[in-house]
Amino acid sequence: MSLSRRSFVQTVGVGTAGLWITSRGREGSLFAQGIQPVQGPAPSIILSSNENPLGTHKDVLAAIRTSAFPEAGRYPFATAAEVTALVAKKHGVKPENVLLGCGSTQLLRTCTHVFTTKTAGLVAAIPAYEECADYARLMGHPITGVKLRPSDLKMDLDALQQASKGAGLVFYCNPNNPVATAISGSDTRTYLSTLMKASPSTTVLVDEAYFEYGTMPGYETMIPLAVDNPRVVVARTFSKCFGMAGIRIGFAIGHKDTIAKMAAWDGVGDINVMALEGAKAALAVPDAWVTAEQKRNEAARSFTQKWFADRGYTPTDSQTNFMFINVKRPAREFRDACLKEGVLIGRDFPPYEKTHVRISVGSMEEMQKAVQVFEHALSQPAKAA
Ligand SMILES: Cc1ncc(COP(=O)(O)O)c(C=O)c1O
Repeated sequence: MSLSRRSFVQTVGVGTAGLWITSRGREGSLFAQGIQPVQGPAPSIILSSNENPLGTHKDVLAAIRTSAFPEAGRYPFATAAEVTALVAKKHGVKPENVLLGCGSTQLLRTCTHVFTTKTAGLVAAIPAYEECADYARLMGHPITGVKLRPSDLKMDLDALQQASKGAGLVFYCNPNNPVATAISGSDTRTYLSTLMKASPSTTVLVDEAYFEYGTMPGYETMIPLAVDNPRVVVARTFSKCFGMAGIRIGFAIGHKDTIAKMAAWDGVGDINVMALEGAKAALAVPDAWVTAEQKRNEAARSFTQKWFADRGYTPTDSQTNFMFINVKRPAREFRDACLKEGVLIGRDFPPYEKTHVRISVGSMEEMQKAVQVFEHALSQPAKAA
């Protein structure tokens, strides 16, 4: 990480939990990541941005082709209202509990804008998905990073609890990107109920972008809790499981007062009708398809995780469509070696950039090819540690 990146954000003191939060390279942007495939052709296997390797669900594409274009000359408000109602129905809540966003990114920014101030800042694990931290930094609001538990790279809930008191917003990324680990529903509820008493003005944003890929027993959504609790909001996305990352649509679910506060800052006017018609189709996809997609991802993930573990490179307990693996060498070294052979993996994730890499789960066929490249990259002695 360069010095200029380091200087982006300084945390406020929380004893030993205080750390730097790093700048984010947007998922999917090679140039923002500083990874430019300058040598030779573009990578043939892209495992860098946690996208669905099978692409967009076919019903979504069909709906965009057939239903969205006739509506393209209209502003999106009526269609947004329809999709809001469909999301509400799917999750057993009321439309007043739902706010759509241009990707969940918009909702992460909205929460940061609405719930942090110059004195009540943002708290997040470090590393975690950086959108909120980047936005808080832009606004000049304080940011506190809380180290992960070294043993399993899960969020350290005791340290997080301590750091969260007095915060405006806690970004609770579950499962957590980039480390792929998740916290159980019961542990999350304990953290939330303790915090609600200890810190009466703090809101918690539970990011469930990878919810569909979580397979560990006890992993749960916080949607039912958020609907009743004005200080908990859940963010979800269509980008991952439904392969709609480039289409840009997500949603937040929360208490009606919280959703109203968020909507007052930024409403649905930025969401295009293509995305809305696509989301309608995604919401109609049977749950059995989602289960099959979860299994497909899990099979390719387990195959790759085992491949690394068998060779002494430990992955975390991934509950997502990506893996975080200790390859015992700088990420850049491993990434550059892979890129030379056409496989693009994730960028650096400080403070783990000297040892760990993030690899998105591709199709089984892609992962079977990719491990041959990984084998080659790992067969070269590590140059720097
Ligand atoms: C944890 C997490 N939250 C939110 C997002 C943003 O997703 P989108 O804006 O595509 O919905 C991402 C993207 O990768 C993510 O990893």
